[in-house]
Amino acid sequence: MSSEAVLRARGVCKGYGRGDTRVEVLRNLDLELSAGEMLAVVGPSGIGKSTLLHVLGLLDRAESGSIEIDGRPVHDASLQDRASIRNAAIGFVFQHHYLLNEFDARDNVSLPMRIAGENRRVSRSRAEELLDRVGLTDRRHHFPDQLSGGEQQRVAFARALMMKPRILLADEPTGNLDHNNAEQVFQLVQELHLKADLTSIIVTHNERIARRCDRIFELASAGEDQKRYVREV
Ligand SMILES: Nc1ncnc2c1ncn2[C@@H]1O[C@H](COP(=O)(O)OP(=O)(O)O)[C@@H](O)[C@H]1O
Ligand SMILES: [Mg+2]
Repeated sequence: MSSEAVLRARGVCKGYGRGDTRVEVLRNLDLELSAGEMLAVVGPSGIGKSTLLHVLGLLDRAESGSIEIDGRPVHDASLQDRASIRNAAIGFVFQHHYLLNEFDARDNVSLPMRIAGENRRVSRSRAEELLDRVGLTDRRHHFPDQLSGGEQQRVAFARALMMKPRILLADEPTGNLDHNNAEQVFQLVQELHLKADLTSIIVTHNERIARRCDRIFELASAGEDQKRYVREV
């Protein structure tokens, strides 16, 4: 099973600052995700959930330890290589949607492919497919401020899948949504996870959502050995 790990972190350490202001966040963290797994990451505010996602998603660097994607070590790769691995393999969604207000939904979703150099027609056509998949075909020409919070997050998920990533990392994607919208967005994530053959990590404060993932990884105080804090569901 371990040879099939899509994402593997071993002995990861990460803190911020130096000297008196030094904060240890992740200490000796081990985590392994098999293909197709959906993992919930839970833990109190400030414990390091976002830090973990940023390190796993190559947005930030671990100070020590190793990270492998599909068995390939990525922690020592150059900044440029890390960016290209990230763009090809990983889709991100955050608590805030980070959609651009001057673009409509379709062009927001198109953006990753446009940045990768694809032409407008091909990018828009793929974006329309994804907007269809998230149930927003009739909202494709709406601008972010004309969409509800739940719709904005649907657009953000469509954008995250634009480059066909294998890994989806979502940082409290339902954190700004009311109960019904959170439920709808999570159902969508489950559906996308299955249909797009994703391996996913969802950071959430919502116990009901966490319990519906395959496994729960609970971050506890960085003074402890974090690998002991995996709860099975
Ligand atoms: N860029 C940064 N510089 C300094 N400290 C940071 C930075 N990012 C996060 N931290 C600190 O690291 C700890 C973990 O933060 P974070 O990963 O955002 O936690 P969570 O997502 O669980 O709320 C917090 O104490 C936070 O203040
Ligand atoms: Mg956070």
